[in-house]
Amino acid sequence: MTERTLVLVKPDGVQRRLIGEVISRIERKGLDVVALELRTVPRELAEQHYAEHDGKPFFGDLLEFITSGQVLAAVVEGPRAIAAFRQLAGGTDPVEKATPGTIRGDFGLETQYNLVHGSDSPESAAREIKLWFPNL
Ligand code: CMP
Repeated sequence: MTERTLVLVKPDGVQRRLIGEVISRIERKGLDVVALELRTVPRELAEQHYAEHDGKPFFGDLLEFITSGQVLAAVVEGPRAIAAFRQLAGGTDPVEKATPGTIRGDFGLETQYNLVHGSDSPESAAREIKLWFPNL
């Protein structure tokens, strides 16, 4: 079934010039990029995007980080796109969970600086795509 997912290359990934690497892996997997924008994230958008983490001990750091530099936001489409991108990304903790061969496993060291975001369910994908690309 064709799905859409929201992908972010976070400020660490942009600063480390990994945009091309991430997009290349998405395309090599066979997924389509249907929207793409480099932007600075307003605090309000960051709060809405990460609303489910409100109250967690790392919430403040999370907002600080995602608003600290440019982010590449993309809508990615294809069969099982949500799970497919999460497979490409690897687990949240780049050392303990992500395996070599994944984006986080190959390039990440710390959970806070884990390079990319991908929606984790069809409900999150719909919510996040509406938030980041309201005109799509
Ligand atoms: P992501 O899965 O994109 O969305 C939630 C983010 O919170 C996660 O990536 C990490 O970047 C961050 N995160 C999760 N757990 C922690 C933690 N224990 N400390 C710092 N950041 C975290």
